[in-house]
Amino acid sequence: MYINFWYPMIRSEDLGPDRPERATCLGVDFVVFRDEDGSARVLSDTCVHRGGSLSGPWELRGRPRIIDGCVVCPYHGWEFGGDGECRNIPSIGYGTRPPARAKVDSYPTLEKYGIVFAFLGDLPEQERPPLIDVKEWDDPRWRANPVVVLDVPYYYERSIENGLDPAHNEFVHPTHGHMAINRATYRVNDYEVADFSQGWGLWFQHRFASPGLKHPTWKGTDAPPGDVYAGSGTHGPNAMFTEINLGPNLCFRGYFIEQPVSENRTRIFFLNLRNFMLEAEHDGPIHARNKAVARQDIEILTDLYPLRTPVSNTKEVLTPSDKAVVAYRDWLARFDDRGWRIDWNEFRARNGTGEIAFAIPSPGRRSSGNWVLETVPLLGNRQARSRAGGT
Ligand code: FES
Ligand SMILES: [Fe+2]
Repeated sequence: MYINFWYPMIRSEDLGPDRPERATCLGVDFVVFRDEDGSARVLSDTCVHRGGSLSGPWELRGRPRIIDGCVVCPYHGWEFGGDGECRNIPSIGYGTRPPARAKVDSYPTLEKYGIVFAFLGDLPEQERPPLIDVKEWDDPRWRANPVVVLDVPYYYERSIENGLDPAHNEFVHPTHGHMAINRATYRVNDYEVADFSQGWGLWFQHRFASPGLKHPTWKGTDAPPGDVYAGSGTHGPNAMFTEINLGPNLCFRGYFIEQPVSENRTRIFFLNLRNFMLEAEHDGPIHARNKAVARQDIEILTDLYPLRTPVSNTKEVLTPSDKAVVAYRDWLARFDDRGWRIDWNEFRARNGTGEIAFAIPSPGRRSSGNWVLETVPLLGNRQARSRAGGT
């Protein structure tokens, strides 16, 4: 897992005006809430007083969760603004200036595509990798299904790699209709991988034989059998997208923007767009089909071992159809060399015992001192990663 990228925190529709929500990403908790302007804010969840959870429960005691745009700690009522500064400490008197150390990390936030994103890292604005571009989003020729959240019991890198894998469709997805049945002719066509996606990922197109598409109720969706192209790409470590073009007016786009929760849990924010059947009434049936396809992947990926992708490709036997997976791992190695990978073994050894609360470093740490929580341990580069054994 890496710091210094944009991560999805919560769907916009799940973040109301008057209660904070918890999101877990990169192994640590965050509190997400709306300030007095309705803008989404993301803070480290651990209260620096005595470890309360800022997203913890309070509604049973009938107190407001958010006061004057501040999230209120449910333990002793400290109030933190969207910038992470503590504004009030009730025990020393409301309006009394809190000590300088009474602050938590605050993360840059963007709300787009129906999702609240946070930049989980300390890079200054001009050095940050951009948010993934969903270029069909504002185009009236495309219709987006409402964002779907999928909680899956496996590591996010295994999930991204699955989306880059043209050899699994025929075996995992009977819904797609072409099952590699002809042993004499079946093989995965060769393809080329290029750099893409605003300079932060890869892109490839793959040609395959489609049996055609004929749906009993989806009018206008017939596509003849023949060769079709599907393309996939990545953006940063945690997002991938797919383009399926069955005909000029028969195209799907899928964006899988992933929240790595832990080594065996991931929350996937799935955006699906189409350039046909634009009426809302088709959202439901398309959603149902997408869910069925996702379930097929989840069943297989739940059993992968080891949980995390191996640090060396020699620990698996890779073939030309795995080219895009190798290219993705090469991108991860570049992120390693920037020093952005969390040292997961050390993180787990110290955090897993419950003895230390870590924070992801925020940009504020570059301009001020006096921070209470220790930041997550990082690996310096790919050599450090391989010494640490594939964290
Ligand atoms: S632990 Fe948060 S106010 Fe005391
Ligand atoms: Fe799949």
